[in-house]
Amino acid sequence: MTDIKNVLVVGAGTMGSSIAMVFAANGYKTVMADIKQEFIDRAFTQVDKSIAWMKENDLLSSDDYENAVKANLTGILNGEIPARGKEFDLVIEVVPENKHIKRSTYEMLSESCREDCIFASNTSGMDVFSLTDSFLKNPSRLVITHWFNPPYLMKIIEVVQGPKTADAVGDKMREVLESCGKKPSVLRKYIPGFIVNRLATAICRELYYMIEQGWVSAQDAENALKYTDGLRWSFEGPIELWDFVGHEITLAVAGDVIPTLCNATDKFPLADEIFRTGHTGVRAGEGVLKKYTGDFDAYVAKRNSRILTMYKVMNKFEEEDK
Ligand SMILES: NC(=O)c1ccc[n+]([C@@H]2O[C@H](COP(=O)([O-])OP(=O)(O)OC[C@H]3O[C@@H](n4cnc5c(N)ncnc54)[C@H](O)[C@@H]3O)[C@@H](O)[C@H]2O)c1
Repeated sequence: MTDIKNVLVVGAGTMGSSIAMVFAANGYKTVMADIKQEFIDRAFTQVDKSIAWMKENDLLSSDDYENAVKANLTGILNGEIPARGKEFDLVIEVVPENKHIKRSTYEMLSESCREDCIFASNTSGMDVFSLTDSFLKNPSRLVITHWFNPPYLMKIIEVVQGPKTADAVGDKMREVLESCGKKPSVLRKYIPGFIVNRLATAICRELYYMIEQGWVSAQDAENALKYTDGLRWSFEGPIELWDFVGHEITLAVAGDVIPTLCNATDKFPLADEIFRTGHTGVRAGEGVLKKYTGDFDAYVAKRNSRILTMYKVMNKFEEEDK
């Protein structure tokens, strides 16, 4: 496969500006493209803010990160892509989650870029493979790379292959993302929810079901996970935990549990109740767990600070395991 040196990030919004920063910081010549100059300017301001935040929080031990971003990151207007498209080895598509915008972006990229240029979509879940199948030149180079917000902090990136994606493309994206200090998980088949949201759905379906049945309160269900897996998962995920416990035990327990699990496929437990009451979460002032009366931004800030604390703890554990 072609060596990846030149990266184009199309769509320089919340995710695109940060993703572009990560590539530039790790030595890739990176160009951000957006539809208006003011959006490019906003993206560079966002990059400066993110670097300032990382410095304030002791995540950068030298000026190397900032210097690499300054040396490697530039911006262009979308209209310049057709003339410059052949330069790029990898395009990350980060335009809004809208079928028309994604489709027209791929039509333009397919015409503008070399056929060996990898196209990686940051879609949250859209089937970009079917969307582009009728016109995309060389569909074996199209893959999803699903980043989490904020991209400079969250190490996980789900790399999702479509029906025609070459395994070599999934493997190449793993290599490139690892070179940026990330922890990619490669999913060889496009399935709804990928890995992270799929598992969150499975867990919450069972939790909501137990609450709906009146077997447990939301708070007690929450605590049961928070004070067990919440404590362990930063160093030992569920698969390693079961290896630790031993499968003569785990599988015996699972054998009793499986026939009693919620297997509803028509609608999600509690869904009717949630929509009837309007308790749709923090933004609505109340969710399944509790009322949220404070300022939303303060809630986000507190949450981010805790993510940062856990990020540092996980880094420490990773160092110990090396
Ligand atoms: N925000 C998140 O937390 C998050 C997380 C994971 C995935 N995603 C996905 O990432 C993608 C982008 O989300 P976002 O939150 O960064 O959106 P955003 O609205 O912040 O950014 C999108 C950017 O794309 C630009 N744009 C619009 N049309 C364009 C075009 N034709 N060509 C080039 N640029 C164009 C916009 O001007 C904007 O700057 C979506 O597919 C979204 O589902 C978002």
